[in-house]
Amino acid sequence: MKIGIIGAGNIGGNLTRRLTAVGHQVSVANSRGPETLSELARETGATPVTVADAARGAELVIVTIPLKNLPDLPKDLLAAAAPGFVVIDTNNYYPQQRDGRIDGIEDGGLTESAWVAQQLGHTVVKAFNGTFAADLLERPLPAGAPDRQALPVAGDDEAAKKLVRTVIDQIGFDTVDAGTLDESWRQQPGTPVYGLRAGVDAVTKALAEASPQRTPDFQG
Ligand SMILES: NC(=O)c1ccc[n+]([C@@H]2O[C@H](COP(=O)([O-])OP(=O)(O)OC[C@H]3O[C@@H](n4cnc5c(N)ncnc54)[C@H](OP(=O)(O)O)[C@@H]3O)[C@@H](O)[C@H]2O)c1
Repeated sequence: MKIGIIGAGNIGGNLTRRLTAVGHQVSVANSRGPETLSELARETGATPVTVADAARGAELVIVTIPLKNLPDLPKDLLAAAAPGFVVIDTNNYYPQQRDGRIDGIEDGGLTESAWVAQQLGHTVVKAFNGTFAADLLERPLPAGAPDRQALPVAGDDEAAKKLVRTVIDQIGFDTVDAGTLDESWRQQPGTPVYGLRAGVDAVTKALAEASPQRTPDFQG
């Protein structure tokens, strides 16, 4: 599959490593430009590109940058993506630690991913947001392995969610359907599933036990 990744930090870098390792064709962009990504390109075989070119022809686009920078992305970011393309949102809202207050989330009653979808003008699938970046390299296991870690996946487009779950399986993790974007508060920062390293049953239980009330650390 042709995959475009916007953000080449902890998560974007390790997703580039895993997705190229299982045979996908990855283009990757950061804010400083492709010339700053030559080491990652050499290591993985991914193609470093500008943000403007990151989604060109991509069947899957992954947006993995600090949430506060989402409004800075080009408005036509997704215009040249492949027909039927799917977008993964890995992002989290850290109002006190990084992002400042985002009114659309605090006052608008939107989940973090619903706000991201609004910024991008395209629905997203929420995945990887509660996964430690290092775990993407250190904890993949083959399907059926007893200790295989499961990741929650939320989204409104069932076909898109299915594709994302297939890709996550390819890179070594089980998944749990966490519902729609409106329900995706169940996997936001501060919830029981956020950062949980566990299998399908425990992840399912943690999602069920979540509260929609943001914990004090994650209030703006
Ligand atoms: N770290 C984790 O373990 C983890 C786990 C799950 C989810 N997340 C979430 O995933 C997202 C990414 O986290 P991270 O830890 O990977 O971040 P990070 O290490 O700080 O990397 C951020 C990346 O985004 C790029 N970037 C920033 N603004 C951009 C823009 N306007 N256009 C294009 N690229 C831009 C940066 O490029 P430059 O370096 O060139 O500025 C950098 O490559 C965050 O929302 C975070 O909350 C993180």
